[in-house]
Amino acid sequence: MYRYHCLNPISSVGLEHFPAKYESTDNMSDADAVLVRSANMHEMELPKNVVAIARAGAGVNNIPLEECAKDGVVVFNTPGANANGVKEMVIAGMLLASRDIVGGIEWLEHQEATEDIGKLAEKKKKQFAGCEISGRKLGIIGLGAIGVKVANAAVHLGMEVYGYDPFISVDAAWNLSRSIHHINDLNVIYKECDYITIHVPLMESTRKMIGADEIAQMKEGVVILNFARDLLVDEEALAEALKEGKVKKYVTDFANPLVTSTPNTLVTPHLGASTEESEDNCAVMAVRQLMDYLENGNIKNS
Ligand code: MLT
Repeated sequence: MYRYHCLNPISSVGLEHFPAKYESTDNMSDADAVLVRSANMHEMELPKNVVAIARAGAGVNNIPLEECAKDGVVVFNTPGANANGVKEMVIAGMLLASRDIVGGIEWLEHQEATEDIGKLAEKKKKQFAGCEISGRKLGIIGLGAIGVKVANAAVHLGMEVYGYDPFISVDAAWNLSRSIHHINDLNVIYKECDYITIHVPLMESTRKMIGADEIAQMKEGVVILNFARDLLVDEEALAEALKEGKVKKYVTDFANPLVTSTPNTLVTPHLGASTEESEDNCAVMAVRQLMDYLENGNIKNS
């Protein structure tokens, strides 16, 4: 019998993959393995029995990797399993930053539903006019599973796409549309692109990688999208640039007091991977990884 503990609610589609010899326990100290989504494990003490942690998601910054390595606890993540969900949020983010869909809907919600509402809307619509993303330049920093999907989708939407990744995998390169300019100079992205989206993991080397110096190189009116991790961006520098209009919009999945109170931000509550499909995919991958490790000693991050 193996015992697992779920630190966050995990999709039942995934948990159903556990055969009868696996039992869920509410008590982490009884568990052999832990499934976690976004719960912060840095403050938690890891019980002695736990030999593996599976993160149902891509980022592992909520897991104390060094301590796990010291204690021999194997950590898995589920790269690519939620890439489609995040890709769709990024495309939605670019559209929301370009068309005043939110403003139009909010305005209509505050109108009385009278006979004249259609006429009134026609008069008002000028105020919500926007621009198209087709024909504009998109810079993608990080061509992993998500970056590649965003790149390919953006090409289909008629964007000119610039991708940067010094460590692109064979798999990612294979899947990447041939129409993308794969460049090895971030400055080109900063100088050329109308939209810049970040898809790199949070590490010491990437912390605040977008700061005042990088923003200064960017085009006037650039849109920055961050569905990766908040600390990748120096948000104080960004808030200044938003106030000055240098950055037209900041679209992010990470709420905090500074970002939510700065004008021209579009903030969602970490919804990138919050789709049925992504949650199921992540849970299935995480459960399979744990079983393969516990039963066969295999360590596969796929
Ligand atoms: C991820 O790390 O996979 C995404 O941020 C989504 C999530 O954490 O749920």
